Amino acid sequence: MIPNQWYAILRSEDVKKNKPVGIRRFNKKLVLYRDTQGQVVCLDDRCAHKGVPLSNGKQHGDYIACPYHGFQYDASGRCVHMPVLGKDGVVPKHLHVPFHTVREQHGLIWCWTGEQVPEQLPEVPMFKEFVEYTGFTSRYAWHAPTHYTRYVESVCEVYHVPFVHKGSALNIWDPKGGRVDDFSCQLEGHLIRSEFVLRPDDDRTAEETLKARLPWTRGWRIGVDVLMPNLVQIRNDVFDVYLIATPIDDDNCWLCICYKEPKRDLLLPMMKPLPIPGWRRVRPWLMCRMERFIQQSKDMAALKGQEPRISSLEANRLISVDKVNAYYLRLRDQLIQEAQAQAKAQAPRSPGDIGSHTGEVKPIHIVPHKPQAA
Ligand code: FES
Ligand SMILES: [Fe+2]
Repeated sequence: MIPNQWYAILRSEDVKKNKPVGIRRFNKKLVLYRDTQGQVVCLDDRCAHKGVPLSNGKQHGDYIACPYHGFQYDASGRCVHMPVLGKDGVVPKHLHVPFHTVREQHGLIWCWTGEQVPEQLPEVPMFKEFVEYTGFTSRYAWHAPTHYTRYVESVCEVYHVPFVHKGSALNIWDPKGGRVDDFSCQLEGHLIRSEFVLRPDDDRTAEETLKARLPWTRGWRIGVDVLMPNLVQIRNDVFDVYLIATPIDDDNCWLCICYKEPKRDLLLPMMKPLPIPGWRRVRPWLMCRMERFIQQSKDMAALKGQEPRISSLEANRLISVDKVNAYYLRLRDQLIQEAQAQAKAQAPRSPGDIGSHTGEVKPIHIVPHKPQAA
């Protein structure tokens, strides 16, 4: 986890009224609930009295009550009532649980990971293609048994698709050979953008493969973007999706994906637009389920046993088409180092400086990749 960043930790609909929810993120147990105004509150999920999870307790208006002795805590984690002392009892000052700064935006709940919370927090990260989109989207979330860096890495390089997802009836990208042409990658602050053509390995030019009609003979123009700290966007001429991988602990991550409506018919009749009311909503919903239940199990099978569990530049021997991975790992290192230096200096940053990376990213040295004929 990179300190001083916004991380999405749950979908908005996962925190319901009067129903505290307990989750694990960043190796910590957290409890979330909505106060009477609908604002999300996030506290450590551990009663200050004797360590019982508050998420097993009940909500009383704006407070959450521990299920063991009924101590009640407010949104700042301060204990405000101890039934055992009576309504006029004086609550000792040390009875409080840590609270976390959260924001609700883009259908997600975001948690600030800094020890210090600046007066002016940066905006939560989101791809402009999704902020500006006005059609229907669908979000879906689950847990995956992999470190989040390895998940981010795996979706950054789509050239595993012809291997890992081969044979899937629903896999629309099955260019035999999985060759990457016309690869380009740029860094814009905290955003890494890349474009390439994933195509069959034959004598045609990349342009010719893009025009082919039969799905197994054609190439796909694909864009893969990473927005720090943990968002990946995949764009192509059929669909746009973003994926978020947030750490649960060193072996697991919380995944959230969000699909837009497909841009044109997919190859499957069931995904074609039908003259049924609500079908536009159903298509991104279905695509999320396909990703979860068809594609992801193949990804997880491929990643099983990967070592080391946590990725880094040193952990891999990257090639030129892994430049998105390389920039992601470099930026991650750099943001962690910046946060450590800041904590060491013990001086609060000036508000405008928080979370904004301004340093130059050093050039990346990777194993040269034999250029493909375009
Ligand atoms: S353990 Fe929570 S009130 Fe005692
Ligand atoms: Fe995959």
